[in-house]
Amino acid sequence: MFDIHEIRSQFTILNQQVNGKPLVYLDNAATSQKPNSVLEVWNQYYTEINANVHRGIHTLSQLATEEMELSRRKIQKFINAKHDFEVIFTKGTTEGLNLIAYILTQKLKKDDEIIISYLEHHSNIVPWQMLCERTGAKLRVIPIDENGILQLDYLDQYLSEKTKVVSVNQVSNALGVVNPIEEIIAKTRKNSDAYIVIDGAQSAPHFTIDVQKMDCDFFVFSGHKMYAPMGTGILYGKQEILEDLPPFHGGGEMIATCSFDGTTYAGLPFKYEAGTPNVGGNIALGAAVDFIEKIGHSTIQNHENALLEYAQKQLLEIKNLKVYGEKANRTGVVSFNLEGTGISSDVGMILDKMGIAVRTGHHCTQPIMDFFNIAGTVRASFAIYNTFEEIDLLVEGVKKAQRMLS
Ligand code: ALA
Repeated sequence: MFDIHEIRSQFTILNQQVNGKPLVYLDNAATSQKPNSVLEVWNQYYTEINANVHRGIHTLSQLATEEMELSRRKIQKFINAKHDFEVIFTKGTTEGLNLIAYILTQKLKKDDEIIISYLEHHSNIVPWQMLCERTGAKLRVIPIDENGILQLDYLDQYLSEKTKVVSVNQVSNALGVVNPIEEIIAKTRKNSDAYIVIDGAQSAPHFTIDVQKMDCDFFVFSGHKMYAPMGTGILYGKQEILEDLPPFHGGGEMIATCSFDGTTYAGLPFKYEAGTPNVGGNIALGAAVDFIEKIGHSTIQNHENALLEYAQKQLLEIKNLKVYGEKANRTGVVSFNLEGTGISSDVGMILDKMGIAVRTGHHCTQPIMDFFNIAGTVRASFAIYNTFEEIDLLVEGVKKAQRMLS
């Protein structure tokens, strides 16, 4: 058992009123709040050791470098990467996915194929469309059923020697659907030699991640959805693949030698870390990993699943309320609409007046909204600090919104 009051006491921001009501923060899939331990580490970096990393001989530079590399090793352990140099600091999932799509340019040619799914965030759609524009490759999209479940028989049909990339998320940000990535990876390995990319933005905050067991080629996630500062994220790539591919940004840090006759590139991870990194943020990401590991993944997952089950059960008792992906295996998210009662943002605004923060709209997943023929949903998303009392307030708020909008 964990002490939710003790956990909540670590998040000063939660202890406030919004619009005259105690804050109920249920927008964790957009960004989680940060515990004091993470903020202290971030603050301590700027107040005590702020210096640029890797190039300095002076003490502060060495301390900053040691702390950032320690954080890299914590993240290596967190995702069970084989080597710390397979862990690349980025500014988030979007940058990670764009980086991968860019460095694969030379590996694709006209009529090659990239497979994604209907459940992807725009950041796992658009970079691949841009790669198709650069190379003449084609995008194929695994469809979903009315519960938001991927129709994997289409993957079987699509996979061929033309498939060069398969990129899917582990958990859908809009619906919370957990995708069977083990099966997707196994099918892909069996039927193609495609690069396998997993978008872990919505899974890393909730699940134990083991990239070696998963056997993906790339795994990307953001720090800010898992209790770390914004502007932090990780790209994991297998050593032999990252060594084979070209760099992304050119600049300082990523070179071995640079002259006007030509430049040679640094080894991993620096080849992919041009420019001054977000040192304070990257160190604080290590503190967020400590926070998660201290509580334990299974505790986090059990609590969030219990919240989801409790929320869904109560919401479904409301007449004319539709939960999207109702019967799918989901985590962390309940996405719904009050049918025939205005648009999702109206519900969101009424909830906000009650101090309840949810997200409304298309959640950067317009194809999912098109599939359900809606403009958006109301999305409540959970973190370790959310309580059952907060779910009661959400349900009460949704009922009130329904009365007001009817
Ligand atoms: N991608 C973030 C979300 O799902 C912003 O809300």
